[in-house]
Amino acid sequence: MNLVKRCVYGISILSLVSMNVQCKGEKKEEAAGTAQEAKATDSVSIVKTVYGETEKGEQIDRYTLKNQKGMEVNIITYGGIITSLKVPNKAGKSEEVVIGFNSLEQYQKANPYFGALIGRFGNRIAKGKFTLDGKQYSLAINNEPNALHGGPEGFHRVVWTAEEAKGGDTASLKLKYVAKDMEEGYPGNLTVFVTYTLNKDNALDVLYEATTDKKTVVNLTQHSYFNLSSDFSKPILDHEITIDADKLVPVDATLIPTGKLTDVTNTPFDFRKPKAVGKEINAADDQLKKGLGYDHCWVLNNQGKGDRLVASAYHAGSGRLLEVYTDQPGIQFYSGNFLDGTLPMRNGGTYAHRTGFCLETQHYPDSPNQKDFPTTVLSPGENYKTKTTFKFSVK
Ligand code: GLA
Repeated sequence: MNLVKRCVYGISILSLVSMNVQCKGEKKEEAAGTAQEAKATDSVSIVKTVYGETEKGEQIDRYTLKNQKGMEVNIITYGGIITSLKVPNKAGKSEEVVIGFNSLEQYQKANPYFGALIGRFGNRIAKGKFTLDGKQYSLAINNEPNALHGGPEGFHRVVWTAEEAKGGDTASLKLKYVAKDMEEGYPGNLTVFVTYTLNKDNALDVLYEATTDKKTVVNLTQHSYFNLSSDFSKPILDHEITIDADKLVPVDATLIPTGKLTDVTNTPFDFRKPKAVGKEINAADDQLKKGLGYDHCWVLNNQGKGDRLVASAYHAGSGRLLEVYTDQPGIQFYSGNFLDGTLPMRNGGTYAHRTGFCLETQHYPDSPNQKDFPTTVLSPGENYKTKTTFKFSVK
């Protein structure tokens, strides 16, 4: 493994073998031997490589999950970040469809949660304050004047431990993190497991599980930015989005829910039939103005009925279709409005305005302060368990 550590951070052993690049004259056979861990006969393989070292000197590993239908997902133990996700287009060509960086160093710098796991509480909590059993808790204000995505040192910036598992037609990576009592201001030692599972049919499951030793609030999600065209220099405005929701969670000027739920009918927020992101994104609409585009939580239909198809994104040029299944009550559709051309793309250039979108399955923002929203409280003895699936195909 020294080989990997010395010279190929950011390049997987598999690509080393197939691309025959880097580390000229070094022990290529060693790399080839390791790659054989992924048996050719397995329908889904999982391979571990060393990805890098954090500023604090912790080793970060990367796991490559790959099936035989051209889907490959790379996940690192820093932030549980999906650094790369490749799926075929309609011509069968497998290409990158998520925004990412090419170094750990870049992921450790300030960035808008590219590919990361979000917790302990996804999205905003008004003024960073909430009350549980009469006790008020104060969180860091990292998105003036509110708390966002679990805090400045939330789950997106911690190191997770990892365990691999192989099923018949699946490969899984089970990540674990124990958030301490009062870490980032939240009560309770929270033990969290997030399991990514790739199957042979181009679906990636994300299973979230958590338990606590004190009453707390939990809202976990995944923050990948998709661009199904694979051309990250182009905005995602031509993607057709579908969201199975009759209602929206409208927000105030600081993106905190007003507490009401509004009907999407005859608004730019009606995605019950497929609609291009760009079709109405610039309409004169008060909610769009507040979000600077789409940056809202939709109230998903069929709540309480378990896993169901809740949203999709289709890119006609490539033919790629992404379908999102979840048991969650809400989905935050964010059209990348804050991407501003300052962060580097993998191979030169920068990520410009709206070149990626997120579909973050979750409970509604600010739930701890909204008595009419489904609860996000987790008590000792209870199991937080929720699953989201990102399924890819072409049409
Ligand atoms: C979420 C929020 C957005 C923004 C992004 C990250 O989607 O709702 O307002 O903070 O994360 O930039």
